Amino acid sequence: MTEVETRVGSRWLELREPADAAARSRSLVTTLAAELEGRAHEGAALTIRDRWGESVSHRRIVVHDLGGGGGTMRRWLAPQLPGPQHWVRHDGDSELLHDTAADPVRPTTNGGAVTDETRPGDLTRLAPQDLIGASLVTGSALLDRLTAAEIGRLVGSVVAAACPALLTLTVAGHITLRPSDPWDAVLEAALNDHQRRTLGDRELLGPDAARVAADSFRAVGWSVELAASPWRLGTESAELAGEWLESWVDAACEQRPELGEIGPAYLARRRRQLARGLAVTVHHVDLLALPPRGGR
Ligand SMILES: C[S@@+](CC[C@H](N)C(=O)[O-])C[C@H]1O[C@@H](n2cnc3c(N)ncnc32)[C@H](O)[C@@H]1O
Repeated sequence: MTEVETRVGSRWLELREPADAAARSRSLVTTLAAELEGRAHEGAALTIRDRWGESVSHRRIVVHDLGGGGGTMRRWLAPQLPGPQHWVRHDGDSELLHDTAADPVRPTTNGGAVTDETRPGDLTRLAPQDLIGASLVTGSALLDRLTAAEIGRLVGSVVAAACPALLTLTVAGHITLRPSDPWDAVLEAALNDHQRRTLGDRELLGPDAARVAADSFRAVGWSVELAASPWRLGTESAELAGEWLESWVDAACEQRPELGEIGPAYLARRRRQLARGLAVTVHHVDLLALPPRGGR
């Protein structure tokens, strides 16, 4: 992991897991599952039983999950994909990978076994050899933490692997709070600037990341589908909404120190409203990239 990257923390990942699962696009997964069914997969052929008890031969799907340290993508996606799967979780946080290495892995809905391995490493330096043998590349809440050059390398590595990529929950740069507040737009703009900040010599893309990734895939003839994947946080997710609001206001004030004068009062006001039913929508975008037909 880059020296500037900070640990996200397993508690934060646990807190956001249900909201992430509810937000990610199901329609992109339907397209992806059909694509995977239709492809000749690399990897060992396995025999499993179908729902009528007949033996059927399936090839194992090998999924490389980029930034998959907490395993949340695997827990959400594996049951929705066909047949046996092997997941390779890449992450710069080796402690997080280690802590989740023994997590139970549920089989797919058609009985396919799911196995898992972890691979510590810095994704800003991802290279084609890291994805050799992949039948699918996934990522969640990752792209907006990268620069244009790093996304270019990531796309180049996926293109070399010639397999689909599902990259979910990239921030879209827009937040809706109901009821609204006169300071919402100012804080939103400051957060967007924070997500596009320069760290060392790295200019993060923040809300521009999904567009840059989509353009990079399209430039080499891949088809790209984008879908909205907003977090919708209400009273049932008040703890997540409260923590998210605090980190949002902190980031905005760090970016524009003059907001320190209004930030604490804004946060206190929003926390009181949260208890009475403040509705928070944090907009994200999911991206599915598919290789051109005949280009496999
Ligand atoms: C917001 S979390 C996403 C949750 C994650 N997809 C999961 O399954 O739990 C982002 C993840 O990307 C990892 N990450 C961010 N930048 C990275 C980098 N440059 N190299 C490796 N991992 C990175 C973090 O350690 C973290 O686990």
